[in-house]
Amino acid sequence: MTGVATTRAELAAARAGLSAPVVLVPTMGALHSGHRSLLQQASEIAGTSGSVVVTIFVNPRQFGPNEDLDRYPRTLDDDLALCAEEGVALVFAPAVREIYPADPLVTVDPGPAGQVLEGEFRPGFFGGVLTVVLKLFALTRPDVAVFGQKDAQQLALVRQMSADFNLGVEVIPVPTFRDPDGLAASSRNRYLSGAERAVALTLPTALQAGLAEAKEGPLAVLAAARALLDPAPLVLDYLALVDAQTFAPAGAAFTGTALLLVAARVGSTRLIDNVIVGFGDSVERGN
Ligand code: PAF
Repeated sequence: MTGVATTRAELAAARAGLSAPVVLVPTMGALHSGHRSLLQQASEIAGTSGSVVVTIFVNPRQFGPNEDLDRYPRTLDDDLALCAEEGVALVFAPAVREIYPADPLVTVDPGPAGQVLEGEFRPGFFGGVLTVVLKLFALTRPDVAVFGQKDAQQLALVRQMSADFNLGVEVIPVPTFRDPDGLAASSRNRYLSGAERAVALTLPTALQAGLAEAKEGPLAVLAAARALLDPAPLVLDYLALVDAQTFAPAGAAFTGTALLLVAARVGSTRLIDNVIVGFGDSVERGN
């Protein structure tokens, strides 16, 4: 049976009874098929003896003043049902005051890789994400945490934070879950009308077109993706090819593992997506 804790005290009491390894899946709720695949991966890692813990918390500190904090979907009953179906041991679903009894005076600085791409278009976003993830790690004390490859920059920064601060949490990526039409699963997809969804599909299509040019080099990859995005009726925040470790631009001579990333607004919905592209001897490719 899935336990539910809403206060730090309840969490501490329930956490004491969990068997190792404890595998954490941090979420903002509105759980969908992408989260289900995170839960299934977490459950595989936990094995028969371990425990999966899910946090459900819409973190105000990672939303900018003009972003969708108020309209972000909140579907706790459905989320708890999905967690129960997936055999989650414990859900921590706190109110804002449990996580931020007061505004924190010390926050996490995401460093240079947090200033570009999502960090540039959403100032303060990664500081907010890393601060809450650090708090959730401290409260749930996991051995392992799983994060989706769809939020590639978040995944890289959380992994870096765990290493740099010696948190002892192994951060494991889970491939992007795609709906049958190719759109990456996201809590925000529910805002898309039918016509907008058709436009949104330009994102994965452009990424695949770029990936198909990998043998021709970085410039060809970018050009192929751009050729599909430019005419589409969307507002492109960025299309970028970066070193998967540092998030520095992958120029014409780049070899190794890169990420081709895109962020765009379709109507009033902002979407992100990415694929892994290997250049030179590196052959790692896909999502
Ligand atoms: O990816 C998310 O859902 C959030 O950014 C996270 C990691 C739960 C932190 O609020």
